[in-house]
Amino acid sequence: MSISRDDLVNWVKNSVEILHENSEYLTELDAAIGDGDHGINMDRGFKAVLAKLPDFEDKDIGTILKTVGMTLLSTVGGAGGPLYGTFYMRAGMAVAGKMELSLEDWTAALDEAVKGVVMRGKAELGDKTMVDALKPAVDALYKCIDEKKPLEESLQISADAAKKGMVDTIPLVARKGRASYLGERSAGHQDPGATSSYLLLKTAADTWHNG
Ligand SMILES: Nc1ncnc2c1ncn2[C@@H]1O[C@H](COP(=O)(O)OP(=O)(O)OP(=O)(O)O)[C@@H](O)[C@H]1O
Ligand SMILES: [Mg+2]
Repeated sequence: MSISRDDLVNWVKNSVEILHENSEYLTELDAAIGDGDHGINMDRGFKAVLAKLPDFEDKDIGTILKTVGMTLLSTVGGAGGPLYGTFYMRAGMAVAGKMELSLEDWTAALDEAVKGVVMRGKAELGDKTMVDALKPAVDALYKCIDEKKPLEESLQISADAAKKGMVDTIPLVARKGRASYLGERSAGHQDPGATSSYLLLKTAADTWHNG
C-alpha cells in the first residue's frame, strides 16, 4: 500500500476544507492566548493553495509539497505562515521527484518537515506550540515502521499521537510566540498551532484510509 500523487492532492484539497470548517475554532483558540488570527491565517493560506493547485497538481509529490509551502509562505503572515511554509517545503525536499510514497517515505517527509519547523522556530517539545502535536506524530510513525504496521493503521496511530500532543498543550505555559507574553496565564488553553497540526494529520489519515 502506498500514497499516490492523487492521494496527496486529495489530502491538500481536504485540508483546505477542514481548515475552512475549523477556522472559527482555531481563531477562538488563538484569541485566548494569541491575537486571534490563526484560523483566518490558515484559511487564507490554504484557499490560496487551492487557487494555485491546477498549476502544479500534475507534478511529482515533492514539487507539489514544495509549491504548497511556498504558497503558504507568501500568503500567510505572522509566525504560522513561515512555519507551515517551511513544514511543506521541507517535506517536499525529502520526497523530491517521487510519484508515490511508502510509509517510510511519508515518515521521512514528516520528520524533515518537523525538523524544519524546529530549526526555524526553535521550539522544543513542551513549549506549547505545533511541535507538541507534530513531534509525537513522527515518533509514532517510526515506531509503526519498527513494528511493521500497515500504512493505514500507522497513519491513524500517528494522528492519535498528534491529538494527544495537542490536548497535552492545555496545561502548559507557552515559551514561544505571542502566547509566551502571557506567561502563566497561557496555561489552561489549548495551543492553536498544535490544533491545526493535528487537524492536518487527521485529514491525512482520513484521506488515505483506503491508501
Ligand atoms: N517559535 C515557534 N515554533 C513553533 N511554533 C510556533 C512558534 N511560535 C508560534 N508557533 C505556533 O504558531 C501558532 C500561532 O500561529 P498564528 O498563525 O496565530 O501566527 P501568529 O499570530 O503570528 O503567532 P504568534 O503570535 O504565536 O507568533 C501558535 O499556536 C504556535 O503553535
Ligand atoms: Mg495568531
